[in-house]
Amino acid sequence: MTSDGATDARLLLMQLLDPANRADPYPLFARIRRLGPLSMPESRMTVFSSFADCDAVLRHPQSCSDSMKSSVVQQHLASGAMPPRGNTPGFLFLDPPDHTRLRKLAQQAFAPRVVRALEPEIDAMVDRLLDAMAEVGSADLIADLAYPLPVAVICRLLGVPVRDEPRFSSAAALVAQALDPIMSITGAPDPQADVRLQAGAWLREYLGELVERRRAEPEEDLISALIAAEEDGDQLTADEIVATCNLLLIAGHETTVNLIANAAQEMLRTPAHWAALAADPSLAASIVEETLRFDPPVQLVMRIAGADLRIGAIDIPRGDTMLLLLAAAQRDPAMYDRAGEFRLDRESARHLSFGLGPHFCLGAPLARLEARLALAKLTARFPKARLNADPVYKPNVTLRGLATLSVAL
Ligand code: HEM
Repeated sequence: MTSDGATDARLLLMQLLDPANRADPYPLFARIRRLGPLSMPESRMTVFSSFADCDAVLRHPQSCSDSMKSSVVQQHLASGAMPPRGNTPGFLFLDPPDHTRLRKLAQQAFAPRVVRALEPEIDAMVDRLLDAMAEVGSADLIADLAYPLPVAVICRLLGVPVRDEPRFSSAAALVAQALDPIMSITGAPDPQADVRLQAGAWLREYLGELVERRRAEPEEDLISALIAAEEDGDQLTADEIVATCNLLLIAGHETTVNLIANAAQEMLRTPAHWAALAADPSLAASIVEETLRFDPPVQLVMRIAGADLRIGAIDIPRGDTMLLLLAAAQRDPAMYDRAGEFRLDRESARHLSFGLGPHFCLGAPLARLEARLALAKLTARFPKARLNADPVYKPNVTLRGLATLSVAL
């Protein structure tokens, strides 16, 4: 691509950061996808937006998740423009062998068998939330269902007291925004970086104190299980326990809420879909999968080239960033028939919404279960619900999602 081409690419990506495009970024994603892979040599980044390319990057054995392997980060570190990494990151941002070791310790808590056993409890939580909505007669589906459900479940699994939720919810939201690729696209530091760093520090301190409380008095939760693993055989450090809990808490807060809300919004826009699910709860699985494809809660992921590599016809030098626009890939007409339509009868179409390969989402079975139960019960209980006001979106680009979704019940 010529340097003019690179400028055009940057301008298009800047539009992606523009909050004005948050409600419907899909026309922009389509324009980007039609241009093919966008090379931005000055930023040492390539943007992929077709299904085949995103799939190939995620499968590539030299696609890395540790940002320390980025040549831009290395340059900033060498020049002193960026301080050395102070805290252990969550294993989402690590590569083997650390990634493998830490993921293995956490994954027992999210195995399909363990998740299935949670079903009655999640079912009862949904009922309680719907009861409260019924009393009022109208609802904000975010504040009243899509947010409190996953938060209660992840707090319960980790062993974080849910009564502390109001204290850490704003910190979790700020930390989640740090996933937006602002510096990669604009080349300038994120103006909100300090606020996010402070929120991250506060959350780690909160979790650090909780870990110490559980060390003194273990309970039947994941924090206590991780402490037992630490004390048992030097498998992870105290810092890594906090980083793992932090990752799970944020992942449990900021993703499933978007899935439930995006599916509910889609059905409210097409009342036949709402009515169909209300009448037949077995449709919940298809609605959840089609929402994951059509309007994914995680819109993009990043990788660093761990070696010189080739994706399609593009050479990527070692240390370059690869930005994968999953939300664009999942409406790629080369992969899906009538890609721009939400279809209940789509035959189990493969998607990348939970990632692929070694970092495949640990919480996928849990997220699917929560969303299926919440949506089937919501529509059955309020078969005539309708949108009350225009939905409002959060500023997030990567974890794009609704801030409010008002309905009359
Ligand atoms: C609809 C809801 C969810 C979506 C769309 C989602 C999406 C994703 C995606 C795309 C990745 C891979 C990121 C990458 O490859 O860079 C990922 C990883 C991960 N997710 Fe989820 N997630 C969801 C819910 C959850 C929940 C409920 C949890 C658990 C509490 C969770 C925990 C994780 C963890 C721990 C990882 C890192 C896995 C690794 O690095 O090995 N996720 N998720």
